Amino acid sequence: MISVEEALKLSRRETIELHRSYLNPTLVSMFKLLDFDKRFVRAGGAYVWDEDGNKYLDFLAGYGSLNVGHNHPRVIEAVGLVEDAPNLLQTSLNPVTGALASNLSVITPGRLKHCFFCNSGAEAVESALKMARAATGRHQLIHTEGAFHGKTMGALSVSGREKYKKVFRPLVGGIEAVPFGDIELLEARLKYCDAAAFILEPVQGEGGIVVPPDGYLKHVEKLCRKYGTLLILDEVQTGMGRTGAMFACEHEHVVPDILVLSKSLGGGLMPIGACVTTEQIWKRAYGGFDKALLHTSTFGGNTRACAAAIAAIDVIISEDLPAKAAKNGEYMLSKLRALQLKHTMIKEVRGKGLLIGIEFREPFKGYLDKLSGGLVNQLYKEYFASLVASQLLNKHKMITAFTLNNPNVLRLEPPLNIAREDIDLLIDAIDEVCKKNRSPVKTVIRAGRTTVGRVAAMTHKKSKVKTLK
Ligand SMILES: Cc1ncc(COP(=O)(O)O)c(C=O)c1O
Repeated sequence: MISVEEALKLSRRETIELHRSYLNPTLVSMFKLLDFDKRFVRAGGAYVWDEDGNKYLDFLAGYGSLNVGHNHPRVIEAVGLVEDAPNLLQTSLNPVTGALASNLSVITPGRLKHCFFCNSGAEAVESALKMARAATGRHQLIHTEGAFHGKTMGALSVSGREKYKKVFRPLVGGIEAVPFGDIELLEARLKYCDAAAFILEPVQGEGGIVVPPDGYLKHVEKLCRKYGTLLILDEVQTGMGRTGAMFACEHEHVVPDILVLSKSLGGGLMPIGACVTTEQIWKRAYGGFDKALLHTSTFGGNTRACAAAIAAIDVIISEDLPAKAAKNGEYMLSKLRALQLKHTMIKEVRGKGLLIGIEFREPFKGYLDKLSGGLVNQLYKEYFASLVASQLLNKHKMITAFTLNNPNVLRLEPPLNIAREDIDLLIDAIDEVCKKNRSPVKTVIRAGRTTVGRVAAMTHKKSKVKTLK
């Protein structure tokens, strides 16, 4: 058995071996291929350090879970304050859980008030979908194409990308998709299908950082009210200050019937998800003794997670992080748009606040296909932005990643108080990566030395194994 102390001393190689043997071996190969298999040992704010003492800037920030940065001292302190309290005692009413629910009712818009706590974004989405069916007595659920709401069965059923869905079919029934940003098609659906809920993200995150047309959310709100369909806003990624307001729906003064939160709600330290709704909807769904325990979660509302969330909210407000996200986001977007004019490889730059995406063109398919017998073409199609992320990580010490439902998009979502100088460093790094990749021939040669070479080596290894068998 390995103790925590020993685990913290494991080398990069030992860590790789443990993951290869006991977790997801293909993910290890993928990380090796992209040179992502670093061993990070320390983190604070927007920075992390590897075992050799190299400092990295984190523009991924836990897929948007680190709005207050890594290891914020006030979040750590809050968790310390409850270290002697029972963390789990479900047959009592927990004061810290009550305080968090009360605080959420203060900061969420409109009459949102009653909370259900769980442990992740997907689980919070599940809770919202079930709540909508229970409250309305209707079963149809509508979602948007390209959406991402998580990978549990219900959340996956209302998500967009076929790749992640097809092997798990049949998924949850009674579900339909409409294009994101399209009001007319939404109304056509709402008119005929008596839907329990329409679920969407105010800005699609994993769909490739897609911002809908101005006024879209307001229209959606009106239509949902008109047809008695509950509006579920999934602010797992856009919430907690990320887009320049505490919640993205506030930009258009929209109030959902159910608001879904997670990621940065836990201050980057504790896993927590929440589903917040009105008194009326809560009563309809779970009011009364027979319905009070219809939906529960063992760890939901545990003391430490709630203490971390109380502190995270406090930090976001007292450090004025939504306003910083708005200012820093505008600055970063303007710099990136200037880069777009310089580099044809950048197809589009888009975002709101500090939720920003760069969409790249796929330029070199043909050459690489010939070189690798199709394998690299597939890799490029699936992980194109990852190759850019790999160069940013290894040459410039910047952490970024692609968006799950659109692999050609590089996501940039740093802690909200990121320094201007650090944004400038990122812009210079992206500029250089784009310059280096300007010539298809050079890129192919470079890829030939790295990715293609490694893929070839892996393929060669596999065929050797086959021959031995
Ligand atoms: C908008 C949105 N909803 C739900 C989820 C799922 O969250 P989790 O990975 O915590 O289950 C994500 C994760 O990226 C998300 O971006």
